[in-house]
Amino acid sequence: MSTQPLRIAVQKSGRLLDESIELLRECGIKIDNGRDQLKAPARNFPVEVLYLRNSDIPQYIQDGVADIGILGENTIIEKGKQVDIVQQLGFSKCRLSVATPKGMPYAGLATLQGKRIATSYPNSLRAYLAANAIEAEIHEISGSVEIAPNIGLADAICDLVSSGSTLFKNGLEEQEVVLRSEAVIAASPRMDAGRRAILDQLLFRVKAVLEARN
Ligand code: PRP
Ligand code: MG
Repeated sequence: MSTQPLRIAVQKSGRLLDESIELLRECGIKIDNGRDQLKAPARNFPVEVLYLRNSDIPQYIQDGVADIGILGENTIIEKGKQVDIVQQLGFSKCRLSVATPKGMPYAGLATLQGKRIATSYPNSLRAYLAANAIEAEIHEISGSVEIAPNIGLADAICDLVSSGSTLFKNGLEEQEVVLRSEAVIAASPRMDAGRRAILDQLLFRVKAVLEARN
């Protein structure tokens, strides 16, 4: 068996980070330090944690720079990378939705024809609009998307919705669900046998943790 640890990519910051680390902790994996270091080994299990930017994780997994990652399915779909989803995790459930300002008349998808839509998910939105034969102008912005209509940058937005409170606070109404997502473990298609064996042990523990939660 390889002596190389399994490299696990997690979000450096963001909503998934705490639950990802908590999952590993419940699997009995103790990680030294944490966010200050970008790479942290575990003390009692042959894994190391890489803290990376969420949007970079699919590429790192595809390239085998990280062996596995804990991330949202939505990010994998958006980036279109070749990774294997090996475990659904049941947390960080959200949807990618189109929303419009309250008061803007909305009569179905056709309303979006010719409109400007701000999003951090241009590929997912483009595919959805194309599948529905809608032509709209997509404005890619990397965060705080919900502010776009208020500042005159867009007529509508397409962003993640979890509790719905960000939409509500910004006077937006959810109109269409583009896709649904939750956290998953994704694995690199190119992993050596030693690391695959560590992954199998880890997945065995993860399944037990998830079963105990239900
Ligand atoms: C995410 C997402 C939405 C919000 C949805 O943003 O982009 O804006 O959470 O959650 P809610 O429905 O529970 O309000 P985040 O706060 O992570 O920041 P960012 O968009 O600036 O990355
Ligand atoms: Mg946001």
